[in-house]
Amino acid sequence: MTTGYRRRMVHTRLTCLRPPIKRAETTFAREVADGLCGSERSINPKFFYNQYGSLLFEKICDLPEYYLTRAETEILYRIGGELAGWLSKDTLLVELGSGSSLKTRLILDAFSEVQSRIEYLPIDISDILEESCHQLLGEYKKLHVTGIIDTYQNGLELVKKMTDAPKIIVFLGSSFGNFGGAEGGIFLKSVSQSMRRGDLFLIGLDLIKERRVLKDAYDDSQGITARFNLNVLSRINEELDGDFDLSKFAHMVRFNEEKRRIEMYLKSRTDQTVTIPKSNLKIDLLRDDLIHTEHSHKYTIPQICDMMDGAGFGITRIWQDSKKYYALVLCQVL
Ligand code: TRP
Repeated sequence: MTTGYRRRMVHTRLTCLRPPIKRAETTFAREVADGLCGSERSINPKFFYNQYGSLLFEKICDLPEYYLTRAETEILYRIGGELAGWLSKDTLLVELGSGSSLKTRLILDAFSEVQSRIEYLPIDISDILEESCHQLLGEYKKLHVTGIIDTYQNGLELVKKMTDAPKIIVFLGSSFGNFGGAEGGIFLKSVSQSMRRGDLFLIGLDLIKERRVLKDAYDDSQGITARFNLNVLSRINEELDGDFDLSKFAHMVRFNEEKRRIEMYLKSRTDQTVTIPKSNLKIDLLRDDLIHTEHSHKYTIPQICDMMDGAGFGITRIWQDSKKYYALVLCQVL
């Protein structure tokens, strides 16, 4: 069922599954090469999350400018009881991009109200998953975890093969907004296709608001987001023997009005050449050349309705925080 995956039993109630080392490494080297050799240079944002990147991201979530986590947490606190009403005794919890599992606790509290044994299948690209799930076990004695350390798509396919129990798939943190436009639609369809009738999908999406508020959330005054963005270059240096000089790059953020998204780049401060041996790559950058690292799409409610409809979902509920900055959307497959 989990062929090819390395299985590690961390605790009687926690097993972690990882793809073969070879696959993870070649994917990184190849995707970095593909992204950097074209004319529109980019690095896929999933590579932000090594140990240090995950730690920085936790700091981002606590920043005064980064309203998203607070808004989402406010909603989750408020709707916990209502959410419990949608769960049955044997609903599995599948979470995409669980990261440090802070908000997961609020969902688990809802599960605790209805279940005597909770089955939790987090899927996250980062190794941080193992440590954070280990912590959860101490707090939730009824919890049984199978952690999948892989991409969302691979993880979902694996879950589909592993079980056909009823489930709720939870995708928080506005991570969906990080997909490109077309890519997002394709992803949503693959989620709806991995679900059975009656299964639930809970997704957190960030809403359009004043430009200043949006921009500051991705360009904080303490420079944590800048460090997070630059860290992906350190990771390439460490894992692929690259020779990026971080002092020669600057963090850059802009809001693209037409596409309604925050765009994040690393801007070359000077003319320079970078080599990445394990990706078999040498690139020449001019001063002000950009490497794109992240999109973060912002939505309107009507747009969310269209998007979900287009992917084969019916919307059951939409909740917003008190400032109407953020939305949590509960869907079912039609
Ligand atoms: N999903 C988060 C978002 O779009 C990811 C994120 C927050 C992020 N801050 C970032 C990604 C800074 C890269 C850089 O809000």
